[in-house]
Amino acid sequence: MLQPRYLSVVLALVIAIVTTAFLSFIPSSDLVTMTIGFISCFIFGSVLIYFALDYLVFQEVNSLYDRIKQIKKKDFSVTPRKQLVEKENPIELLRKELNTYVATKEGEVQDLKKAAKYRQEFLADVSHELKTPIFAAQGFVHTLLDNPDEDLEIRTKFLEKAAKSLDGLDSLVQDLLTVSQIETGAIKIEKKKINLRPLIEEIFEQVEAKAKKREVSLKLIAPKGEIQVKADTQRISQVILNLVVNAIKYGKEKGLVQIIINEKKKAYTISVVDNGPGIPEEHLHRIFERFYRVDKSRAKNSGGTGLGLSIVKHIVQAHNSKISVQSEENKGTRFEFKLEKA
Ligand SMILES: Nc1ncnc2c1ncn2[C@@H]1O[C@H](COP(=O)(O)OP(=O)(O)O)[C@@H](O)[C@H]1O
Ligand SMILES: [Mg+2]
Repeated sequence: MLQPRYLSVVLALVIAIVTTAFLSFIPSSDLVTMTIGFISCFIFGSVLIYFALDYLVFQEVNSLYDRIKQIKKKDFSVTPRKQLVEKENPIELLRKELNTYVATKEGEVQDLKKAAKYRQEFLADVSHELKTPIFAAQGFVHTLLDNPDEDLEIRTKFLEKAAKSLDGLDSLVQDLLTVSQIETGAIKIEKKKINLRPLIEEIFEQVEAKAKKREVSLKLIAPKGEIQVKADTQRISQVILNLVVNAIKYGKEKGLVQIIINEKKKAYTISVVDNGPGIPEEHLHRIFERFYRVDKSRAKNSGGTGLGLSIVKHIVQAHNSKISVQSEENKGTRFEFKLEKA
């Protein structure tokens, strides 16, 4: 409707009708005069209005439009100019496209802001996490230096404590390296056909001492025979080890930690289940965030970095899968993910 052509015709028609109506009031004007008046008004009117509209308004819109197109061609879909002139309302179109453009840009700015904030927070977190074990080790070593006459037993105790802090520092740096490798994409998941059974048995051997300390029993419940999946051996070991260590650390003393494997059509589900105190509901959605710990003081004692589950999540995602958690207070926690059958 709003095309300049139609608009000018309609306006010219109105003007011609009004002019003719006026002419009809003049006694000397006859039908010929009125017809000529009507036709000339109509023709001149439509041509003039057409040009005025086209050159003033629509050309202006078009130049604005070209300008936007220059700003960024790839950023948003621009209707070709031809279409713009023929479409119903170029101003409306222009507005729509400007809105899309602004929305895209706003989204980008938000993303950038988020990334900047994330970096800041990460740096602050890392510094904070590094500070703790360094300070502790530093304290013990300096105490030793300042008290050279202390008896051997006490000196050994202090050295052991310093060593423990440094071990914590080591595992923190290891985990940080893994996180950074994951983020930069340096970790490549090499999926191979692997058998989960021996892998899990090996993990159980690795954590035996830890489990014994808390008198936790370990159990594997799985279908008979080989459990063949497509996965990266080292990375999936890391995932299961992390989950099992967590279950032992945060589960019940004298409790039970189970790995339960279920066979599905195209995949196996792997669950790590404990019967410990569980994770309170309000923390559940945050435990996969890095450095997030439910109980900071308790985690400090057990030397956790708070990075374990975020690494787990990343690795599982890199296997095109998802990790889920269910937990009930005083009943226990269950972490579960799927691996494609080989
Ligand atoms: N099986 C579990 N039972 C109870 N709490 C758990 C369990 N697994 C993890 N958590 C909680 O989630 C937090 C994050 O775990 P994780 O990322 O592995 O860090 P870390 O073990 O270094 O503390 C832990 O500090 C702990 O509070
Ligand atoms: Mg952990």
